[in-house]
Amino acid sequence: MFEIQARQAALEEVVSPLLAVGVYKDENAPQTLADAAAPALSGDFTGASGTSALLYTADNIASERLLLVGLGDRASFTPEKLRRTAATVAKRARSLKLREASFLLPTPPDADLESAAQCAAEGASLGLYRFTRYKSGNGETPRQELESFELVVEASSDEDTANRGARTGVRYAEGAALARDLANEPSNTATPEYLADKARDIAERHGMEITVLDRAGIEAEGLTGLSTVGRSAANEPRFIVLEHRGGGEAAPVVIVGKAVTFDSGGISIKPTGGMEDMKFDMSGGAAVLGAMETVGSLELPLNVVALVPATENLPAGDAFKPGDILTMQSGKTVEILTTDAEGRLILADALLYAKRYDPAAVIDCATLTGACIVALGNHASGLMGNDEDLIAEVQTAGETAGERSWPLPLFDEYTEQIKGDTADIKNSGGRGGGALTAGAFLKEFADFPWVHLDIAGTAFGKKGNAYTPKGATGVPTRTLVEFLVGRVR
Ligand code: BES
Ligand code: MN
Ligand code: ZN
Repeated sequence: MFEIQARQAALEEVVSPLLAVGVYKDENAPQTLADAAAPALSGDFTGASGTSALLYTADNIASERLLLVGLGDRASFTPEKLRRTAATVAKRARSLKLREASFLLPTPPDADLESAAQCAAEGASLGLYRFTRYKSGNGETPRQELESFELVVEASSDEDTANRGARTGVRYAEGAALARDLANEPSNTATPEYLADKARDIAERHGMEITVLDRAGIEAEGLTGLSTVGRSAANEPRFIVLEHRGGGEAAPVVIVGKAVTFDSGGISIKPTGGMEDMKFDMSGGAAVLGAMETVGSLELPLNVVALVPATENLPAGDAFKPGDILTMQSGKTVEILTTDAEGRLILADALLYAKRYDPAAVIDCATLTGACIVALGNHASGLMGNDEDLIAEVQTAGETAGERSWPLPLFDEYTEQIKGDTADIKNSGGRGGGALTAGAFLKEFADFPWVHLDIAGTAFGKKGNAYTPKGATGVPTRTLVEFLVGRVR
């Protein structure tokens, strides 16, 4: 059990195995610690961002260790830097095999105490995340986990406000951790039915409505894309509908997540190199479920519907093939140029399904195109949509959450590029503007204010910043939550 608590205390009185204190670049440590910190500050520790110095015992402090952590320039200290600093501190405490640590909470210039505490709690808990369930340990001594992380606030600050922020931060992190767990889980475990089971668990714990369509239900509902992609899969497809009713009669926000539990490409099979990463092709669905976990634990007074089309994409004798033509529920026909452009087919079904809610807004997220990685690398999700205000709202939510996204255009020319020869549209627009032709495809099915996040470059990868280890990042769980929280205010 990992706990985060805020406590009002004078620094010299904090009794902890490790007291971490931020120091701005070229500034001094807080007055009480000036003597203890002096040798480090007159030496090679400057307070530069990302640096730290560990000191042992000083006469006038009760804590056993003092960790000076660089915060960088005071004026450019941001909530996101605070998340990373808190993660660095928590991980350092863990690597020292400590059970407890304290961190003097620094407040960025344009943040209040509550949001600072939230960011610190988010950063610390996300930083400590690891996916270890398949490590057998081979008789090694069990890993020591950090059990308690204390946020020390100054005498002039309100402890309750800080605790409120810390609790919210932990909830945000729990949702993101759930998304990371689901996405890191390999496809031999994380099948469509496994995701449905996790959704049932969320529904039960938070009193949400859940509907899971199996293969027969998917066909009966006319979800052409999902039943076609899922036809050749031994692990049956599922269409997951999770409804949080906290907003009375108000129109809901619908969040949609692509959950291809393994994308081999199908008959248009992918090359071997890196194919193992396609277990992450359900990261959108994972983030949507993660967001619902947080929506539930925060008891948001909103109506939120999560739609997760889940399937494998595998070749077999009965698999769909290039050249096939699908008739979608709306009557629109789609010519398959490549079975590897499967995500947009199952997302189209979900967008058509969303229409019945007369939604206030729909946000879909999907590891949709390699082209988006070419465009933005791993530093931002691709952001597209049919409503400028909604696009701006999602971008701001992502920026606040420390999960960047960047707008890409959906000019009519991209729609032109996916005009079909024998059918209305085709599922690939060729090499040029691949992220945008995918977005243009989805736009054909979005009959409401809608935004699409292409998370191919951001949902998983090599080790990122201090709070994103290698593997699943949980992006865009906290963007979705932040967006929804913003709709409450
Ligand atoms: N799941 C992939 C996209 C992807 C690639 C995500 C790499 C993360 C990392 C998607 O289903 C896909 O295969 N897209 C194709 C579309 C193309 C065939 C039109 C792509 O991007 O190559
Ligand atoms: Mn694919
Ligand atoms: Zn895919």
